[in-house]
This record gives sequence, structure tokens and C-alpha cells, in this order.
Amino acid sequence: MSSDPFLRPAEAHDAPEIAPLILMAGGGVYEFLLGGLVPGAETVDMLVPGIAGRSGSFSHRQMVVAESAGRVIGVAHAHPTHWMRDADRSFIPADRIAHLAAFDSTQDWDSYFLSALAIAPDLRRQGLARHLLARVYDRARDGGYDRVTLHVWADNAAARALYAAEGFTEAAAAAIPWHPRLPHRGGSLLLRRPVPAA
Ligand SMILES: CC(C)(COP(=O)(O)OP(=O)(O)OC[C@H]1O[C@@H](n2cnc3c(N)ncnc32)[C@H](O)[C@@H]1OP(=O)(O)O)[C@@H](O)C(=O)NCCC(=O)NCCS
Repeated sequence: MSSDPFLRPAEAHDAPEIAPLILMAGGGVYEFLLGGLVPGAETVDMLVPGIAGRSGSFSHRQMVVAESAGRVIGVAHAHPTHWMRDADRSFIPADRIAHLAAFDSTQDWDSYFLSALAIAPDLRRQGLARHLLARVYDRARDGGYDRVTLHVWADNAAARALYAAEGFTEAAAAAIPWHPRLPHRGGSLLLRRPVPAA
């Protein structure tokens, strides 16, 4: 890959640029979970402190970014799946958590989890997502994991094409019901692939 764009570990000061990309990757799930919980705050702004922080699964330390011309134009966010078991969700309304219960019931808790992957719309189809995925496989291997998993909305054709090209296969279907605030058809799919040899 040439020197621009280039990949690097995320830093705390990237958080305001990373947050909109994380929202994009979620396909509405962060807005569904967090929307309206802090009066006057946009969901995107609610993500920034966690990304800027040094601890927890949501920290920038679990992210790799693509940078071009001084701008963060892509992100991959990944960590051991079981870290999500300890996440504090006590501030999220119980009905919102319950609506997404199928995410948890389909997880492969011993895998390495790709939580988010997004590229700025104007820079897609240049292989950047594949480069970021290669970094995720490296991190998974370094952590001693033999497989990577992720959830993708069944109606996200671009992402499904990418993951199929990368060798991911369907491991489970998470029946997340359609909701006016999360209008996806077909629920979510848990995809899995082995970590490639170094
Ligand atoms: C999905 C996404 C990350 C792909 O990023 P990208 O940098 O454009 O992907 P790449 O250029 O690395 O694509 C690699 C391969 O994936 C497949 N692919 C990627 N986007 C595709 C699309 N829109 N349609 C069909 N195939 C696609 C192709 O096989 C492609 O190879 P090719 O360009 O040589 O044909 C990007 O579209 C995105 O950010 N979408 C919004 C966020 C999102 O949905 N994230 C995934 C959440 S699970």
C-alpha cells in the first residue's frame, strides 16, 4: 500500500473523526441504543469520550485507522469477544437491550470480534477495508486467537460482499426484529473466518 492513504494505530485525538465512522458501521444500532438518553447530545458526540479513553473495549487502543491528507478516512475496531460480557450497559433502557438480545445469544465468545469497520464514502472500492482487515487478523493472531467473528446486517450488501471475498462464512443468524428506529430486514448474521497464518 502506498504512503497515502496509510494505516496506523488510532490515537485519542482521532476520536471526533472516528465516531462518525463507527456510527456508519453500526447501521443505526448506536442511535437505537443511545438516542435521546442525554438531552441535547447527539449520539455521535456520546461516542467520543469512550473512544478517546484508554480503557475498555471501546477505546481507540482497540482501533486501527486509515489516514489520507491528514484526515481519518477509515477505521477497524476489534477486540476479544468476551470483553463485551463485562460492558456496563446499566444506563441503556432495558427494552432497547432486550430488542438486541440475539446479538449476545449468537456470539462466539472465544473468538476475536470485529466490532466496526467503515471507510469514508468517497474513498471506497480502493481496497482500504481489506487492508484494515489484514491488521485485525494480525492483532487477533498476536492475541492468540484462531478466528475472527463479526455481525453484519443481512441487508448490508456491500459489507456482505466484502466479507465473502475475505473468506468469512455464516456461523449463525441473529433474529433482530425490524423496528422503526432500526429498520433492517432479515436481522443480523454472525460471520466467522479463521485467522490466516502470518
Ligand atoms: C463495507 C465497506 C467497509 C467496504 O469498504 P471498501 O474499502 O470499499 O472495501 P474494499 O475496497 O476493501 O473492497 C474489497 C472487496 O469487497 C467487495 N466489495 C466491497 N464493497 C462492495 C460493494 N459496494 N459492492 C460489491 N462488492 C463490494 C469487493 O469484492 C471488493 O473488491 P473489488 O473492489 O476488487 O471488487 C464500506 O462499504 C463501508 O464503509 N460501508 C459502510 C459501513 C459498513 O457497512 N461497515 C460494515 C459493517 S459490518
